[in-house]
This record gives sequence, C-alpha cells and structure tokens, in this order.
Amino acid sequence: MLSSIYLVFAASLGVTQALPGAPSTHKTCSDPWARVSPAKGAVVVDNSASPYPGSFSTVQAGVNALNTTTTTPQNLFVFPGTYVEQVYIPRLASNLTVQGYTCNSKGYEHNEATITYNLALINTTSDDKTATLRQWNPNTKVYNMNIVNTFGHIPKNGQNLAVSAETTGQGYYGCQLIGYQDTLLAETGSQLYAKSLIVGAVDFIFGQTALAWFESIDIRTIATGCITASGRSSATNPSWYVISRSSVSGINDTIPAGTNNLGRPWGSFARVVFQETYLGNVIAAAGWKQWSTSTPNIGNVTFSEYNNYGPGSVLEEGPRANFSEQLTAPISIQSILGENFKNEWWIDTSYLDPSDLKVSKTHTTAVASTSTSTSTATVTATTAVASSTVAASTTPAAALTTTVSTSAPVASSSSAATLTTSSTTSSVTLGTPCVCTAYSQISAAVASCTNIVLSNIAAPNGSAIDLSGLQAGTTVTFDGLTTFGFTNSSSFNPMTVSGAGITITANPGAVIDGNGQAYWDGLGSNGGVPKPDHFIVVKKVTGNSVIKNLNIQNWPVHLFTISGCSDLVFQDLLLNNTAGNAPNSRSGSLAAAHNSDGFDVSSSSNIVIQRSVVYNQDDCVAITSGNNMTVSNLECHGGHGLSIGSVGLKSNNNVTNILVSLPRNLCPQTKYGGETEFTDSSVLDSSNGCRIKTNYNATGFVANITYSNIALQGISTYGIDVQQDYLNGGPTGNPSNGVLIENLLFQNVSGTATSTAQDYYVLCGDGSCSDITFTDVSITGGSVASSCNYPASGCPA
Ligand SMILES: *[C@@H]1O[C@H](CO)[C@@H](O)[C@H](O)[C@H]1NC(C)=O
Ligand SMILES: *[C@@H]1O[C@H](CO)[C@@H](O)[C@H](O)[C@H]1NC(C)=O
Ligand SMILES: *[C@@H]1O[C@H](CO)[C@@H](O)[C@H](O)[C@H]1NC(C)=O
Ligand SMILES: *[C@@H]1O[C@H](CO)[C@@H](O)[C@H](O)[C@H]1NC(C)=O
Ligand SMILES: *[C@@H]1O[C@H](CO)[C@@H](O)[C@H](O)[C@H]1NC(C)=O
Ligand SMILES: *[C@@H]1O[C@H](CO)[C@@H](O)[C@H](O)[C@H]1NC(C)=O
Ligand SMILES: *[C@@H]1O[C@H](CO)[C@@H](O)[C@H](O)[C@H]1NC(C)=O
Ligand SMILES: *[C@@H]1O[C@H](CO)[C@@H](O)[C@H](O)[C@H]1NC(C)=O
Ligand SMILES: *[C@@H]1O[C@H](CO)[C@@H](O)[C@H](O)[C@H]1NC(C)=O
Ligand SMILES: *[C@@H]1O[C@H](CO)[C@@H](O)[C@H](O)[C@H]1NC(C)=O
Ligand SMILES: *[C@@H]1O[C@H](CO)[C@@H](O)[C@H](O)[C@H]1NC(C)=O
Ligand SMILES: *[C@@H]1O[C@H](CO)[C@@H](O)[C@H](O)[C@H]1NC(C)=O
Repeated sequence: MLSSIYLVFAASLGVTQALPGAPSTHKTCSDPWARVSPAKGAVVVDNSASPYPGSFSTVQAGVNALNTTTTTPQNLFVFPGTYVEQVYIPRLASNLTVQGYTCNSKGYEHNEATITYNLALINTTSDDKTATLRQWNPNTKVYNMNIVNTFGHIPKNGQNLAVSAETTGQGYYGCQLIGYQDTLLAETGSQLYAKSLIVGAVDFIFGQTALAWFESIDIRTIATGCITASGRSSATNPSWYVISRSSVSGINDTIPAGTNNLGRPWGSFARVVFQETYLGNVIAAAGWKQWSTSTPNIGNVTFSEYNNYGPGSVLEEGPRANFSEQLTAPISIQSILGENFKNEWWIDTSYLDPSDLKVSKTHTTAVASTSTSTSTATVTATTAVASSTVAASTTPAAALTTTVSTSAPVASSSSAATLTTSSTTSSVTLGTPCVCTAYSQISAAVASCTNIVLSNIAAPNGSAIDLSGLQAGTTVTFDGLTTFGFTNSSSFNPMTVSGAGITITANPGAVIDGNGQAYWDGLGSNGGVPKPDHFIVVKKVTGNSVIKNLNIQNWPVHLFTISGCSDLVFQDLLLNNTAGNAPNSRSGSLAAAHNSDGFDVSSSSNIVIQRSVVYNQDDCVAITSGNNMTVSNLECHGGHGLSIGSVGLKSNNNVTNILVSLPRNLCPQTKYGGETEFTDSSVLDSSNGCRIKTNYNATGFVANITYSNIALQGISTYGIDVQQDYLNGGPTGNPSNGVLIENLLFQNVSGTATSTAQDYYVLCGDGSCSDITFTDVSITGGSVASSCNYPASGCPA
C-alpha cells in the first residue's frame, strides 16, 4: 500500500527520474539555470555510487555538518538521489540555502534530489515530528528539492507532513511537496512558496500563524478533502494564506469532479484567499466547507476569492458557501510579506510574477484609517492594499465580482469590507510584459521578451507563428484560442519553435486549432490538396526545455516534427485529431485526416515524451533516429501505435537507447542501463501496438530498445511488429539485412488484438537481428497466425 502510493506518485509526477543508466557519475548540463555543482564552501550530500569528494551520504549528516555558530550564510547542496530519511534542520546562527541538483532550477520538473519518509501522527507525538523535512532555521531558501511523505492515508492520526516550516523567513522555490493529509505545515512568520508543486488530499496546506504567499503553485489533489486548513484562531492572529496565480486540479483524471474544497476553518478566524488562479473541476460548487458538523467554525472566517477561472470557479459553478466572498481587487504581496519584501534575503524575486514587483512602495494610510479593525494584521493588510491602489490608479477597475458576503462578522468583515472599498476605484495591473493579442505583435515580442503570452491569436493565411528566434530561457504561454488560416503548401510550417531552456505552455482552457478541416482529403501527404506537412516544427530546442500543457486539435498532416533537439521534455499534452476520423466530402470512404503522426522524432537526444494523450490516424510516436529517449505514461488512441522507424534511407539511420512505457504500471520501474525506453503506456484501437520497421534495402542501426509495461487494446494489424522489409508503398515481404537490430526487449506487454490482426510478427533480415527478448508478453485475439523468424524459439507462447 505505502510503496504503491509512492510508485504512483513517482510514475505520475516524475518524483524520481528513472534515469537510463546507473548514475555512477553525474551527468552535466549547461543550461543557464542548471544547478549541478555545489557553491564554494557548501556542505555536499551525495549518496551515489561514486560520491562527490568530502560529501555526506545522508541529508541529515550534511545538516549536522553545518556550522551552528557562524553568521556567514551557509549552503547545502544535494546531488541526485532518493534519500530515505527524516531531516531536521535546527536553528542555526546563519542563513541557509538548500539546493537540490537540477538541470533547470526555474521549475520543479527537472528536480533530481528527493527526500522521502513515511511517518504519521500515529507513529509519534506531534504533526511536526511526522515531517520528512522539519525546517526550523529562519532565513532559509530551499530550491529544487522533492520532499515526500509516503505514509498515505488512515482514518485516524494519519497526519503525515512532507514539510514542517516552523519559523519565519522561509522560501521554497521549484520544489515538490508531496503527501496525503497535511502535506505542508506553514506554521510561523513570513513564508514564500513559488513555482512549486504541492500534492495532497486532506487539509494539505495548513498551520496556525504564518503569513504565507503562494505564487505559481501547481496544487494537485489526490482524493477527497480540503486544500487549506487555516488554524487562525483569533482576530489578532496575523495569519494569511494567499494563493496567487496558481492552478488547482486533480492529479489525474481519476479524481472525480467536485471532491475538493478550497478550504475549511481549522481555527474559527481562518483566513485564506485564492486569486487569479485556475480552479479545475475537482472544486465543489460551494468552494468552501465548514470544519465539521459539530464545530462548523464559520462565523468569523475570511474565505475569499478574486478573479479565479476554470470549471471550479464561480464563473462556471456555484453558489459558493455564504461564509465566503468574492473580492473586487487582489491582495498584494506586500500586504502579506511586508513593504520591504523585495529586499528580504530569503525571498528570491526571480521566482515571482513581474506584477508582484511592479507595485510601488508608495504608502498611504488613508484606507487604513477607515478600517474599524483593531488588529495590527488587518491594518498592515489594508494599508498595503491602499498602496497598491495608488500605484495602479491608472488601470481600469477589476472587471469581476460584486457580491461580497455580508455574513462574515467582526474583524474579518472589517478587513474584507476595506479591501472591497479600496478597490472600487482600481486594481493592481495583472500580467506579463509581453502579451500579444494580435498576430502582428508576435515577432517584436519574440525579439525582445522572455515572457510572452499569445492570447487568442489568429494567424492569417500564409503566416506562421514563428518562435524560432526565442531568447534563452523564454516562456511562451498560449492563451484562449489559437487559429491558423489556409496555406496551400506542403512546405509551409504553421509553427516553428527553437531555443535553449525554453518553456512552451498554455493556460488552462487554451486550444490550438490547426484548421485541418480546410485541408483533409483522406490522402495526407501522399497526394491531393497541398497541405502543411509539419504543423509544429521543433528544431534545435535544447537546454532542458519543456513543451507542456498544450491542447492541440485538427492538425493538417504530421503534428510535432522534432529534430536536432536535446534535453527536451514534452508533457501533459492533449493532442486530439478525433475530428479527422470521419470521412468528409473530399475523402470518400477514407478517414478525412491521414498521416497525422503525433510525434516524429529524428536526430535528437535526451528526449522525454510523457503524460500525454494522442487521438490520431497514424503513428502516435515515430522515432526514426536519435539516442536516449523515454516515452512514458502515454495514451494512444486510434492511430498506428508506438513506432521505431521507419529506419533507413535518411540522413541519420541510428536509433539507440529508447524506453517506451505506458500508464498501467503498478510494478516498480526497472532501470535498463543506457537504453531507449517506451514504458507505462497504452495503445487503444490502433492498427499496431509496438512496432519497429526498418526500410527495405537500407542501412542503419537500431539498438537498446525497451517496450515495457504497455497495455494494448483493439489492435487491428500487429500487436508486436518487427519488420525489415518496409517501404512506404507497402512492405516487400522480403526482409533486407542492412539495418542491424540489437538488444530489443518487450517486457510486460499485454492486451488484445482484433480478429483481423496478427498478435506477433517478426520478420528479420538474414543475420541482422540479435538479442530480441520477450518477457511477460501476452497478446491475444488476433486470428491471423503469428509469425516470427527470430528468435529461434519463435513468437512468445
Ligand atoms: C564555525 O564558525 C566559526 C565562526 O566562523 C568558527 O570560529 C568555528 O571554528 C567554526 N566551527 C567549526 C566546527 O568549523
Ligand atoms: C507507523 O505506524 C504505522 C501504523 O501503525 C506502521 O505500519 C508503520 O510501520 C509505522 N512507521 C514507522 C516508521 O514506525
Ligand atoms: C491517478 O492518481 C491516483 C492518486 O494518486 C492514483 O491512485 C491513480 O493510480 C492514478 N491513475 C492514473 C491512471 O494515473
Ligand atoms: C466571532 O468572534 C467573536 C470574538 O471572539 C465572538 O464573540 C463571536 O461569537 C464570534 N462569532 C461567531 C459567529 O462565531
Ligand atoms: C540573513 O537574512 C536576513 C533576513 O532576510 C537578512 O536581513 C540578513 O542580512 C541575512 N544575513 C546575511 C549575512 O546575509
Ligand atoms: C448560509 O447558508 C446556510 C446553509 O444554506 C443557511 O442555513 C444560513 O442561514 C445562511 N446564512 C446566512 C447568513 O445567509
Ligand atoms: C484565406 O484562404 C481562404 C481559402 O483559400 C480564403 O477563402 C480566404 O478568403 C483567405 N483569407 C484571406 C484574408 O485572404
Ligand atoms: C476530441 O475532439 C472531439 C471532437 O473533435 C471531442 O468530441 C472530444 O471530446 C475530444 N476529446 C477530448 C479528450 O477532449
Ligand atoms: C537520457 O535522457 C534523460 C532525459 O533527458 C537524461 O536525464 C539522462 O541523463 C540521459 N542519459 C544520458 C546517459 O545522457
Ligand atoms: C550508426 O551506428 C553505426 C553502427 O554502430 C556506427 O558505425 C555509426 O557511426 C553510427 N552513425 C551515427 C551517425 O551515429
Ligand atoms: C546499449 O546498452 C548497453 C548497456 O547499457 C551499453 O553498454 C551500450 O553502449 C548501449 N549501446 C548503444 C549503441 O548505445
Ligand atoms: C537495393 O540497393 C541497391 C544499391 O543501392 C540497388 O542497386 C538495388 O537496385 C536496390 N534493390 C531494390 C529492390 O530496390
């Protein structure tokens, strides 16, 4: 039970990266935001097989080696590894930075240092003592650490903290905090959490007196429960939790809609704000809950929202609980972390939204003087809001919200009312420096900005969205609906992406529509109307870049054409060409869309494609050349399956070290030394399951390919297919031996084929295959007899 929870986390979140190859020496990466070597004088932690000289093998041993009396700031650096231990950082005399190894410190996706433990309250005497990291030193920054409590759930005394942040002056940047109940104890003083992931089910952001700001946090729920449980217990308690510009959703689609609330009041003066945040459908219509039937605690709470969006927001559901309210302006960061927040040592402003930094320091007490509150916390908050109002006085009033609950009495109503009043004239400007709302603005933004939002762009006929000149480290966010005109040319690429350390992402709800209907004629790139053959060309993208969160539909022919790339992750993509399944007036009886490959990869290395869903009419993934790729947690519907190939007759004809694996995996992920892997995936209603095709009469090299943990269903041609006679016009039936295939493993591949199919088909050339292994492979249902000319033992039984 416990370990399976961890594995599910590990598989679905990349908590541990199953690196191909035993990491006896640490890989290097040179991204501007790589943090792969210790700062001078740092205490180093490394539990690898060949540890860094002078390092400690546990994080606690490293902490113990810190000097407790020096006042010079100290550093602790943690090399990749899973450190199974509880770590207590005591109060030191110095400031402290904890840095986990990562190739891109700006987010949590590339973290490689994990601390994991599994205590719950049932094992000990306080919530704090269950925490995997007990952080008691003020003025501490923690970067790029994964901190996990794997205990899971029991009905009573199951509190299981990942982090106990017990002092003021703590900042967490690019971290993953993972647990079930009470994941994060934000207990005391001023704290900042930014660009991080927080996972849990029950009350998983909680605490009593902290003023905590949460910026760009991915909050993911794993079961029924409330996200926050503020323990603010009196009107004079300064605590605030403000969750800003974040996103809330279930960790995957299995979390039912409406099962989570934004918060419930642990203390009767609980105070929590969610603002400008995406709320997924897991949020219940009421949004907020009482503490319990016997102790509702709702009389004096401040539960507020401002400009949230998404299916779980008041824009799309309700009514909200009548002890909650909608604000008419956002809370400013300085009202929570102080006017001087930018100069605090423990605050790394580079992880904050630019709009946080823009608000001027101008201070006015005008609004505060109208407040009836006697609590210093409330005064602080209202004065700061006033200052932000002044700074932004030229901007229009916040568009949304007029309802302010009248039920929240006494202290909380005074602050809420003040917030409301102060904002009737204006609100803080939102957003990022370069928001393009018209196609014509894109080229200037690409040339000058590193934070670009493309909002509801309609690319005209003959015009591509050209992101090939992105500066290093740029983030491009698609927002709203992106559309393309009609360009009658097969060499026209509607979108091109290049750059180092870039992030291409989308706001929730955004859709990129390729206008496939204007072209589809059932012939794809084999004839008919000239159509853009490559919808998105991803070329020379390097330096730990990420392409994620995109919802792409109706692409004309091939979707992603990926070449010359390295250290690039694709994840959380929904690629939906379902509309091309039905024939149209031009296609006769054929599916309208054709050759609509999802991912075509060539001449690239260190590529990860994961956590995505593809609906199409051709290969889900096709790798024709390259080295070291992992394809995992993928669902492929309707197309031609997971392919290596066709290999041969191209400029690069080597494919090595690939792992393909799909999502039904409940077994520990096995590591294969330096191999290409496809793992933990499923292929449904497709013509092939796992396929390797090499071109007839060609030369090349295919080595170290693993297909593991793959579920197949409704496969209509080949369940597993290795063929060396491929030609685009149709296989010759006569294999050639110029492409060598070696070390091919099919492991735990199972499922069903339809009666039209062959469960297994292996057609190797004379002497060109070696080491093809089937382990725990079982495909049934095909009525055409299987045929395997290699290995000598024949097809799997
Ligand atoms: C700790 O730092 C202090 C002040 O720099 C120094 O005097 C002392 O020797 C250090 N202690 C150890 C054990 O290194
Ligand atoms: C914690 O308690 C649970 C339930 O009693 C037990 O299964 C588990 O082994 C305990 N963990 C430790 C580390 O003692
Ligand atoms: C979804 O997440 C839950 C909770 O972590 C997990 O138990 C389940 O296995 C996941 N399902 C899939 C399909 O990933
Ligand atoms: C709110 O708090 C005040 C002061 O503690 C208390 O007198 C009052 O009963 C509380 N109201 C509710 C409805 O709980
Ligand atoms: C430690 O952090 C505090 C709080 O931000 C700051 O005032 C102080 O200057 C820092 N100390 C050093 C030596 O940098
Ligand atoms: C709030 O809603 C509850 C439940 O619907 C209702 O009983 C109560 O009277 C309402 N309170 C106010 C002040 O409207
Ligand atoms: C774009 O191309 C389509 C199809 O040829 C045509 O109908 C439309 O008028 C063109 N739009 C513009 C603005 O030229
Ligand atoms: C995919 O697109 C089709 C229509 O084109 C739509 O009906 C379906 O809901 C979409 N699937 C997903 C998962 O969004
Ligand atoms: C293979 O690629 C993965 C993912 O990019 C990377 O983490 C790993 O270091 C690479 N392995 C080698 C041996 O380069
Ligand atoms: C392809 O593999 C062959 C056989 O190992 C090797 O000789 C050749 O150099 C490789 N070519 C490239 C481009 O890596
Ligand atoms: C295949 O994997 C083995 C074992 O990890 C490794 O030694 C070998 O170099 C790999 N082959 C290629 C061509 O990368
Ligand atoms: C195979 O390749 C050789 C050398 O390029 C060529 O002469 C021959 O015609 C090809 N055979 C077929 C059937 O294409």
